[in-house]
Amino acid sequence: MHCELTVTLTYTAHKLTDYSSGTLITAESEAKTAFDEDWKSIETGTPIEELRVRWLGRENGIVNKQLPDLWLKSASKKERPEVGKAINRLKAYVQDHFASGEDLEPGAREIVRAFQAVDISLPGIRRPIGAEHPVLRASRDMCAVFQRMGYSIAEGPVVETDYYNFEALNFPPNHPARDTQDTLFIAGQNSKPQRERLLLRTHTSPVQIRTMEKLPPPIRIVIPGVVHRNDPPDASHSPMFHQIEGLAVDTNITFGDLKGTLDHAMKEFFGSNVKTSFRPSFFPFTEPSAELFISCIICGGSGKRDSDPCRPCKQTGWIEILGCGMVDPNVFEFVKDNGYDPKKVSGFAFGMGADRIAMLKYGVDDLQLFFHGDVRFLEQWA
Ligand code: PHE
Repeated sequence: MHCELTVTLTYTAHKLTDYSSGTLITAESEAKTAFDEDWKSIETGTPIEELRVRWLGRENGIVNKQLPDLWLKSASKKERPEVGKAINRLKAYVQDHFASGEDLEPGAREIVRAFQAVDISLPGIRRPIGAEHPVLRASRDMCAVFQRMGYSIAEGPVVETDYYNFEALNFPPNHPARDTQDTLFIAGQNSKPQRERLLLRTHTSPVQIRTMEKLPPPIRIVIPGVVHRNDPPDASHSPMFHQIEGLAVDTNITFGDLKGTLDHAMKEFFGSNVKTSFRPSFFPFTEPSAELFISCIICGGSGKRDSDPCRPCKQTGWIEILGCGMVDPNVFEFVKDNGYDPKKVSGFAFGMGADRIAMLKYGVDDLQLFFHGDVRFLEQWA
């Protein structure tokens, strides 16, 4: 049975008459004894919350506010450390009691336990579950299409050397194609030979070389990753974006294999209605080279949305998706020692923008939305 008893809590903290150690010891033990009495009074009905407020309350609790005000504030610099220690001892003493309750009789002990327990009536803390970023999801989905065709994933560094980003991809030093890449260079590299200078990779193609150095043919890999170019941000450009590279090398790989593989991948990713069109292009590391266009998935290839012009394909009905081509024999020369004899092996490579395929697949018309980190936008993929 719970009996209501009114218990008077009598102790009041006072200013110290002096700061001698004797006075301090007496004051400390008085406070302690007072707390012991108060604490014991839980057994006779003092609400534990009342005790907590009286002793530990932030606003006016004895150990948290009153003693620091009354004892500590007027203490001299020399006296302070001892006074502080005494207050801290008292605080620990009080807190230990609230944490245990073992010195009380069973009924009161239960009260202390219940006080420590979690208040299950409080609303819980909901931790929002994260979602995969749409660009990474599109990238992963596209890589999965190739994995189902037997490709493996390869990766490489974002900070790359001039050698892997350009030289081994058949961009000779001073080749004009280097300018078209708007490269962001790492500062302070000018004392190094050109091929060792560091830069932010402008494409994922350097991982072609890095992988061929490690693995002998045949290989089939897809390479997702971040790349950088010195482009000001707008609805279709960003200084940081994502690519997915592909490389297949074996004996007797032909341009027909390239076309069939990419046509299949586009249909898998965008839907079986999609048509593909290859148009001649140029890259230093592929010969011949091509650009792959797909029929516009927004307007279905008509160039019109109802009677309005279709913007994503600029009314052409076709959208450029990637660059590709047959691996240039000059590229194999750089990895010849690992079994890539240009007379014996052939291969194809391609590179596409992951952000771009995400925009098309999810109907996003501003690239910047992917990088602003606005949860209202991103949670659509949750
Ligand atoms: N690396 C090229 C680019 O970023 C794309 C590409 C990759 C072209 C592989 C051909 C072969 O523009």
